[in-house]
Amino acid sequence: MSERAEAAAADFERLKALVDAHLETALPEIPKEAWTLEEAMRYSLLAPGKRLRPVLLLLACECCGGETEEALPYACAVEMIHCYSLIHDDLPAMDDDDLRRGRPTSHRVFGEATAILAGDGLLSAAFERMLGAGAAAGAQGAGRPMRAAYEIAAGCGCAGMIAGQICDIEAEGLTVSAGRLDFIHAHKTGALIRAAVRAGAQLAGASEEMLAQLTAYAEALGLAFQIADDLLDAEGRTQDIGKTAGKDAAAGKATWPAVHGTEAARARLSELTARAEKAVREAGGEPAATEAMAALARTLETRKR
Ligand code: IPE
Ligand code: IPE
Ligand code: MG
Ligand code: MG
Ligand code: MG
Repeated sequence: MSERAEAAAADFERLKALVDAHLETALPEIPKEAWTLEEAMRYSLLAPGKRLRPVLLLLACECCGGETEEALPYACAVEMIHCYSLIHDDLPAMDDDDLRRGRPTSHRVFGEATAILAGDGLLSAAFERMLGAGAAAGAQGAGRPMRAAYEIAAGCGCAGMIAGQICDIEAEGLTVSAGRLDFIHAHKTGALIRAAVRAGAQLAGASEEMLAQLTAYAEALGLAFQIADDLLDAEGRTQDIGKTAGKDAAAGKATWPAVHGTEAARARLSELTARAEKAVREAGGEPAATEAMAALARTLETRKR
């Protein structure tokens, strides 16, 4: 590994550790009567995830010269939303998965009703976290906390992630066009990744030009990330990916390998990675964060989980 790559990897680990530590105390106080809810929420939130979205938010903030500490509540909120989406995505009525992050899925452990409520709880807690931080900043934030919270609300909402999820479910067993497939991927996965990056930039008060460059980075990265996820489902091993391999083909899911073939999926993944790297370098942000964001795109191209 070159010195530059090593520094970038260390940057990712530094921010991931910060996120992991903050997630421990990020949930609101839950009444003791509702302890099962808290147990289920913590089970999913604290399971060993990659923490990609919160780290991206923090890196985008650093890239634009912002304060990491101020961005942490939003980073935790994005991870809460991501975890809620995973709990619901795994439900029998959705993808019907037994394994997540190498552990039994929420509904397998706690039952469906509790899993649904744990998802609802994490989504609500995310907004409590963000709006609480915004309220504490008061007028000092000059509208930045509100813009960041708006990005995240829109990204996970019905013109973002949820639109992608419904189209993903409706596409099961059908032949979908290339355009429809990209819509699904850009929404079910891309929208929250895009929102995380934009929220981090907004918190730092990024210029319109900077925001546009980082948005281009995030959009390329988001699509690349889901193509890699599809390839891992088709070619990876359950013990490596921490979720049941081969489920997409069995469910007739609309995936890049299914629609375009494995080779084309790999080529597209490379092309998008290069595009993401170029976009972040052209943004002209803080050098160390830029390097970490470029390195992250390359790492995700060849990820094994
Ligand atoms: C899984 O996301 C769901 C997708 C959008 C593909 P990740 O691969 O980031 O899952 P964790 O957070 O590391 O478990
Ligand atoms: C999940 O996509 C997207 C969201 C959870 C919003 P997938 O269904 O492909 O993710 P995995 O493979 O279950 O992690
Ligand atoms: Mg799914
Ligand atoms: Mg799934
Ligand atoms: Mg998948």
